[in-house]
Amino acid sequence: MIGLILAAAGSGSRFGSSVPKQFLPLDGVPIYFHSLDIFEPLVNQAVIVVPSRWKDQVYQETRDSWGADRIRVEEGGEHRQDSVRRGLASLPAVDIILIHDAARPFVTGGLISRVIDETRRTGACVPGLPISETVKQVRNSTVVQTLDRNSLVLVQTPQGFQREVLAKAIEKACEEGFYGTDEAVLVERSGHPVAVIPGEPGNIKITVKRDLSGRS
Ligand code: CTP
Ligand code: MG
Repeated sequence: MIGLILAAAGSGSRFGSSVPKQFLPLDGVPIYFHSLDIFEPLVNQAVIVVPSRWKDQVYQETRDSWGADRIRVEEGGEHRQDSVRRGLASLPAVDIILIHDAARPFVTGGLISRVIDETRRTGACVPGLPISETVKQVRNSTVVQTLDRNSLVLVQTPQGFQREVLAKAIEKACEEGFYGTDEAVLVERSGHPVAVIPGEPGNIKITVKRDLSGRS
């Protein structure tokens, strides 16, 4: 069984609107709804993790199209990792887990299917995009070193994991007090390899207001 954890519990501090960015309208429906719709035919179950005050509304908005037995809405946590951990606990019967940022509404079915296939094969998979600009490591406004961009990718979601691989990695990170900015870094630290497949340039994460300009 394939399960989706849609991470929608952030506050959107860099975006800076009173309503968290994932609940703002885009083409007439909330941003989180766009990706949820694309995942719907491709997964068996989903959990959306949200800030506590959004729980009832999000459940009402999603229950009919998914069916009450396929969708859950849970309260997220302070860090993204806490949100994902709670989501994982509410999908007990699922063996392939996909984790997606609610703030990435332009994901495609093709990308989701490729992540699922590679996750089945390898246990852990992320989409990555090549970097076209030069990347430098900087400290105190001075370059420390220039990184070899040919060995770097920009990592997107959905990220896919076999359940045991993800569960072990999250437990280890939590025991050690480590918090990552994605789930793959937890799996990397656990010693399990993470496969990279081509991401999609259109699959942007809405982070600041400019990311939506001309779209809403
Ligand atoms: N997220 C989450 N739980 C958290 C923090 C983030 O579920 N405690 C989710 C966000 O809702 C978002 C995704 O993780 O869909 C990617 O995170 P990001 O773009 O950083 O969103 P925010 O954390 O909301 O934004 P910011 O970092 O600017 O506050
Ligand atoms: Mg954040």
